[in-house]
Amino acid sequence: MKDTMTIVNNRTNESYEFDILDPTRGPSVVDISSFYAKTGMFTYDPGYTSTASCTSDITFIDGAKGELRYRGIEIEKLANKHSYLDVCYLLLNSELPNKEQSEDFDLELRHRSFLHEGLMNLFRAFPSNAHPMATLSSATSALSSFYYDHLDIKNEAEYQEMARRIIAKIPTIAAFAYRHSIGAPFIQPDIDRSFTENFLYMLRAYPGGKMHRNINGEDHIREIEIKALDTIFTLHADHEQNASTTTVRNVASTGAHPYVAISAGISALWGRAHGGANESVIAQLKMIGSVENVDKFIERAKDPNDEFRLMGFGHRVYKNFDPRAKALKALQDQLKNELQLDSKLMQIASRIEQIALNDEYFIQRKLYPNIDFYSGVILTALKIPTSMFTPIFVIGRTVGWITQWIEFKKDPKSKIARPRQLYIGK
Ligand code: SDX
Repeated sequence: MKDTMTIVNNRTNESYEFDILDPTRGPSVVDISSFYAKTGMFTYDPGYTSTASCTSDITFIDGAKGELRYRGIEIEKLANKHSYLDVCYLLLNSELPNKEQSEDFDLELRHRSFLHEGLMNLFRAFPSNAHPMATLSSATSALSSFYYDHLDIKNEAEYQEMARRIIAKIPTIAAFAYRHSIGAPFIQPDIDRSFTENFLYMLRAYPGGKMHRNINGEDHIREIEIKALDTIFTLHADHEQNASTTTVRNVASTGAHPYVAISAGISALWGRAHGGANESVIAQLKMIGSVENVDKFIERAKDPNDEFRLMGFGHRVYKNFDPRAKALKALQDQLKNELQLDSKLMQIASRIEQIALNDEYFIQRKLYPNIDFYSGVILTALKIPTSMFTPIFVIGRTVGWITQWIEFKKDPKSKIARPRQLYIGK
């Protein structure tokens, strides 16, 4: 016998019973799927602040504790001890790969990283000043016309192939989008390089594959850079039912192609309230310009009549430190010397953090730095252009989106997303 919740309509004195469903961890839910049929009324929850849209066993977040787990494993352990590709395997298969599985997965993604020649023309159709996110979402949507057979997936092997293909191709699409934006020829993937090194290679190499010499006169990509970016990909891999994942699930619910669902996720992520915040954080730190100016901008962020918001602060779920922000802060401290992090930007960022974490406005609203607050300084030190910050978020998150898409497709209770409204018109 399930526990229930009784809701009494005090207008009519009618009472209604709804089942309580219990999780393995986190809050229980009240199953209100029969609410309209029983009461003739809708529930109302703009932004879904109190609404669970699905069951899932992929990612768990405890916002009060600042805890994040992929398939039950803490994010700290994954970021410190496992490669991003092993984390992709974990998300897709619910367990970490053994050595052989890890090598096979890595090799398969290297071979799948190439794009159909026909797709090249699409990049050239864009103006060179096109934001890489616009090109990225368009090219990803275009992939559906090259793999149309993936519309109707029947078995696990097809799910896995469809997922591995998009995970492998997104970095190439992102790199080509960037190369087009600077008027440089595309650098094809190099299957002798790992997933993360290959992305940096496709961004940076000269035609013919020669690498630019860095300030130490080295013309190769340093291990420390690969590890830093690999960790950033892992920290971005999945995050429960956030706005872009909800978008991907909603597109999945209509039966559209998986790659157009990913494209819709990319578009949703672009907004500065979501994944676009990482690019806005750096722009904001540069706009603030000096430690002396920070106080003035903190006051603006607190002013209800000023639309200015502190980019990289606040989160719908985390009402404590975002564990990913903590991991990135530790990475920042570790890289400070090796990567010559921009000390001025870091000083402004730490001044913001210092004031905000002690200011009543932020404390009362439980506003803490989120993942986007720290990623930008590291990406800047990796000589990643700010226009590529959100595409890097896309590269990390694609595995999460496609894993959530597959979970939705396999869920016998999944239905087309069709919320109702409180009509206030004529
Ligand atoms: C990501 O959902 C996810 O999991 C997302 C993500 C993922 O991995 O997928 O974690 C990635 O998107 C991280 C968030 C990146 N966005 C930013 O850093 C943009 C700045 N942050 C805000 O826009 C805001 O905090 C949100 C959008 C992140 C959360 O918005 P909510 O939960 O709807 O909170 P809210 O807007 O209702 O704010 C509550 C209060 C309000 O004040 P009051 O009206 O109560 O007086 O806090 C204030 C807000 O004005 N507030 C801020 C603020 N964020 C919230 N005030 C100043 N600066 C801010 N950044």
